[in-house]
Amino acid sequence: MSIILSGDRPTGHLHLGHYVGSLRKRLELQEQGHEIYIMIANIQALTDYYDNPSKIHDNIYNVLEDYLAVGLDPNNSTLFLQSSVQALFEMTVYFMNFVTLSRVQRNPTVKTELKQKSFKNNITCGFLCYPISQAADILAFQTDIVPVGKDQEPMIEQANEVADQFNSIYGCSVFRNCQVLLGETSKLVGIDGKAKASKSLNNAIFLTDSNEVIKEKVYSMYTDPNHIRVQDPGNVENNVVFQYLDAFYEDFEHLADLKEHYRKGGLGDVAIKALLYDVLLKFFEPIRERRGKINEKDLKEILHKGNDAANAKAFQTMKAMREVMCVKDY
Ligand code: TRP
Repeated sequence: MSIILSGDRPTGHLHLGHYVGSLRKRLELQEQGHEIYIMIANIQALTDYYDNPSKIHDNIYNVLEDYLAVGLDPNNSTLFLQSSVQALFEMTVYFMNFVTLSRVQRNPTVKTELKQKSFKNNITCGFLCYPISQAADILAFQTDIVPVGKDQEPMIEQANEVADQFNSIYGCSVFRNCQVLLGETSKLVGIDGKAKASKSLNNAIFLTDSNEVIKEKVYSMYTDPNHIRVQDPGNVENNVVFQYLDAFYEDFEHLADLKEHYRKGGLGDVAIKALLYDVLLKFFEPIRERRGKINEKDLKEILHKGNDAANAKAFQTMKAMREVMCVKDY
């Protein structure tokens, strides 16, 4: 059995990109009976929204509800809140002593985000160092496998580097390395076909969307601008509808036939959109059913229980770190 850790920033409800990138793998791992920790990363979210903390606060239970709705089970997985595990803060500070500024600046995800955020000369320490804090999240639990979307891969790489550095500096084996586990669709495209599905770009289908909203989104999906008449040959590769069918439609043979038909011409966009809508309705059925059974009063208790378990585990790792670093109570 392996130890699994993953998590999400609570900046809004989760969407299908989260599902295919990471949630689906987490559910598979849960099914296999591993030791699983799923973290609501409210402290990491504050690196972006330090001046708007209520946004984070308001979404903690939303994300927890999404976890429960997709089938993460608090009896099998430890669902917890990052800010409730004090050891993570302490570990981050220790790691900051030896991780260089140039190393975090080289992290490809940080690089991309730096460009998007237009910090100019006002990059905050918190933002730049969040990969170090994420290394602490991963290493605190002696994690073996981190199921995440592709954009998180550099974070796992960096966590392994931090682990190796720590072990080598202090001549110990406190940390082990972990592996990233990407979803089969590790990056789901947005309905506009321009970028990956994301809340900020407003191009995602959310796990909380109603049928009407889903229908509207599916029927507005980007397909092939040159596929004007039904009989025209169509492009399958950059076609958002087919990318979603790839991610959600389980009748692979039928899908292969449809693709061939579309390429040749004679299959209209409305037909494939109708199929996708149908596929998504089936996908959403159990999610909605589970969501309907969530009792709000239980949410607090679920987190408390998870926080206690996560704390106990992370505290052990932190104690081992202190030991080799000669940080003692005097
Ligand atoms: N960076 C992740 C995201 O933006 C959230 C996260 C924080 C995380 N700590 C983690 C993911 C540790 C995996 C492992 O979604």
